[in-house]
Amino acid sequence: MELLEAIAKRRSIRLYTGEQIDRDVIDDLIDAAIHAPSSFNAQPWHFHVATGHAREAVGEAVAQSTRFLEEYASVLPPELLDKAARFYADLGKAPVVIGVSVPQSADEVDQVNTLVAAGAAIENLMLRAVDLGLGACCITAPRWVVDQVKAALGVPAERLLAGLVLVGKPAEEPVPAERRRDVATYLE
Ligand SMILES: Cc1cc2nc3c(=O)[nH]c(=O)nc-3n(C[C@H](O)[C@H](O)[C@H](O)COP(=O)(O)O)c2cc1C
Repeated sequence: MELLEAIAKRRSIRLYTGEQIDRDVIDDLIDAAIHAPSSFNAQPWHFHVATGHAREAVGEAVAQSTRFLEEYASVLPPELLDKAARFYADLGKAPVVIGVSVPQSADEVDQVNTLVAAGAAIENLMLRAVDLGLGACCITAPRWVVDQVKAALGVPAERLLAGLVLVGKPAEEPVPAERRRDVATYLE
């Protein structure tokens, strides 16, 4: 698949068939992720890949976040609240959940560098997923239960969980979200 086609086709998939994904396919996704750039080539990421029982444990931890729906209401429009609650209850049946962690740093520059690198790695992974006919969704919202999610993924306490990437065979074809176009200022 051409790069621009994969970029245009990628959507956040929140409903999956539940079908398992082979280990070599997951390895292929991680391989795409690690080709991302990173400040000083620090490669600060670690990928905590949860399938099977571990995936269930992550799902149970994330599902607990629905107890904080009142707080969700402060960050989500009402029409999305129910949808979010349903999604966090089972993570759309995604068979694979990949936690991406980076070292936690008190230094703002360091932390920004590691998080930007993690974001680049996540996008590489998600584009490769599209290329392989899979779907993915990056989520960060269940911060309310981040300690439980970290425990389920085996993320050491001193590392920051940058996000979760759900991967699986898509069971939906979301309408592309509108893109703002007035996003660049050109200086000469
Ligand atoms: C850093 C980051 C955090 C996100 N967190 C969530 C989340 O917690 N829950 C969710 O449903 N989607 C989450 N998303 C997906 C966005 O909602 C989605 O990318 C956006 O609405 C645009 O839709 P698209 O990805 O289909 O183009 C996140 C995306 C990014 C990049």
